[in-house]
Amino acid sequence: MKANFHKVVIWLFVTTVLAAAGFGFGQDLPDGEGKALLENNCSFCHSMERLQGKNYGKQYWEDVIAEMREKGSPLSEEDVPSLVSYLVKTFGAGPEAEAKAAEARKLIQTNCTGCHGMDRIEEKRLDKAGWERTVKGMIASGAQLSEAEAGTVIEYLANTYPAAP
Ligand code: HEC
Ligand code: HEC
Repeated sequence: MKANFHKVVIWLFVTTVLAAAGFGFGQDLPDGEGKALLENNCSFCHSMERLQGKNYGKQYWEDVIAEMREKGSPLSEEDVPSLVSYLVKTFGAGPEAEAKAAEARKLIQTNCTGCHGMDRIEEKRLDKAGWERTVKGMIASGAQLSEAEAGTVIEYLANTYPAAP
């Protein structure tokens, strides 16, 4: 019993320290419904620092949240949209996201408008898998993009021209 008690004390200590570490970042999170959702559904497996630098749009966060719910996050289905919009608002428009988007726009102008106009792209609405197929198809027909550049372009297109919800 005594040994177990020690384990509990150590466990409490570790979780308290981890929670404190998470909270350091949590304090910087803007208020909103999403903050509580994050604290209750996302912060017990990894610290919220896992979210830092993920300056992506809606599609990325939807994919990540689906993955996290599969891993065991108790976030309910109906809370998904409000957490997604909170994350997009909080992380989606940072300078990194802007730089990435600018890079993607340049790649598209240079590599995607030689055979057809931008309208061919702008009128399309696809999910990430759909954009991946399309861009790979364009590369097969002659678009000149490295694998990394294709990734940047796919991410941008999936965020900018997502499939209708
Ligand atoms: C049951 C445990 C668990 C919960 C709860 C959880 N995660 Fe995760 N999360 C993980 C694991 C494990 C990884 C590492 C996966 C990997 O590296 O492939 C991870 C990785 C991540 C990443 C990094 C993914 C990447 O592409 O690098 C993000 C962002 C993330 N989680 C966000 C969230 C959000 C948002 C929530 C709440 C909806 C959440 N997590 C809840 C276990 C969890
Ligand atoms: C070498 C010429 C070429 C380049 C470069 C090119 N495309 Fe295309 N693209 C085509 C052709 C040809 C079609 C028409 C194919 C068809 O209708 O089946 C097309 C069609 C499309 C469509 C419409 C597909 C559909 O299902 O309606 C999209 C979206 C598209 N391209 C995006 C891109 C993007 C993004 C890039 C840059 C990564 C790109 N294209 C670069 C030749 C090109």
